Amino acid sequence: MRAVIKGIEASLPEYILTNAEIEKLVDTSDEWIRERTGIVERRILKQDGLGTSEMGADAVRKLLAATGTKPEEVDMLVCATVTPDMQFPATANIISDKVGIKNAWGFDVNAGCCGFIYSFSTVDALVRAGRAKKVVLVCGERMSGITDYTDRNTCPLFGDAAVAMLIEPTDSPDEGLVDYENHVDGIGRHYLYQKAGGSMYPASAETVARREHYIIQDGKTVFKYAVSNMADVSVAMMARHGLKPDDIAYLIPHQANLRILSATGHRMGLSDDKILVNIEHLGNTAGTSIPLVLWEFRDRFKRGDNLIISAFGAGFTWGAMYYKWGL
Ligand code: COA
Repeated sequence: MRAVIKGIEASLPEYILTNAEIEKLVDTSDEWIRERTGIVERRILKQDGLGTSEMGADAVRKLLAATGTKPEEVDMLVCATVTPDMQFPATANIISDKVGIKNAWGFDVNAGCCGFIYSFSTVDALVRAGRAKKVVLVCGERMSGITDYTDRNTCPLFGDAAVAMLIEPTDSPDEGLVDYENHVDGIGRHYLYQKAGGSMYPASAETVARREHYIIQDGKTVFKYAVSNMADVSVAMMARHGLKPDDIAYLIPHQANLRILSATGHRMGLSDDKILVNIEHLGNTAGTSIPLVLWEFRDRFKRGDNLIISAFGAGFTWGAMYYKWGL
């Protein structure tokens, strides 16, 4: 028994924030952003008073309709996010309430850009144990809410979106989550974090004045750790299962930076056509970026295709999955 994705739907905010608009906010250029990151535009949830749950609930409603699932059939709803609506209650609970899921329990997973791989690994364990049979997994971020649009080092990078997936048990060897390997190294807390608003530095006039409620990142250091760790763990996953580049249909990398994800694919011996990318029009949506790629390219996959999924993020967290497409 293992977990398999049996439905996937996305919610994208309408507003498109272009590089041209970012050029008006900070000292940068469209050329610099394209060359150094691969990003051309990203979606932003503009309206005040709307959080991650707005997009998450929209994606779940579409998922329930597309898969013919009744809200009362769902036994668990997990939400991976670093931009919860509020510190508490969990955004998973808020989404459940908005969509009428009443017979489920759930929680949020905070794993930075590894939100999808950490939460899917967790759900897989419950599915394998026979304790969860119809799980809705939501990955959602309103990164624009914690992005400092006066900081040129970070504001070109991030976008908003949510994806909802229906996860069920399968006993078919031709589909589902075959294996995963996850890691954490707390040294990352010095290089990528949101300083204030938690229990260590509660919100105050001073924390707001010092702009400490926004993402703070040492991009160069994050880049170095990301390149080596994402590649190492992906190559290790191939070795563990005796997978050669020809055995892999596609690499689904976290969309952090085009240079990071290309380097990962090339270390695995993959040609560019096997490295799936949508960063140019969606930016880095943190833990949501991998399911956004799965959703966007879903018609390209065949049941049983071998996918390697690979991510790196705040923490530091990183990991890789060996997944067989099951739709
Ligand atoms: N426009 C123009 N110049 C910029 C810029 C921007 N938007 N952002 C940074 N720069 C400048 C820097 O200030 C620096 O100038 P300096 O040398 O005078 O100090 C110069 O460009 C080079 O900065 P550097 O950090 O070396 O650039 P980079 O090539 O590493 O690219 C990132 C910066 C942020 C794109 C890159 O480091 C990155 O992608 N890091 C990983 C980020 C990430 O994925 N985080 C999420 C978790 S996975």
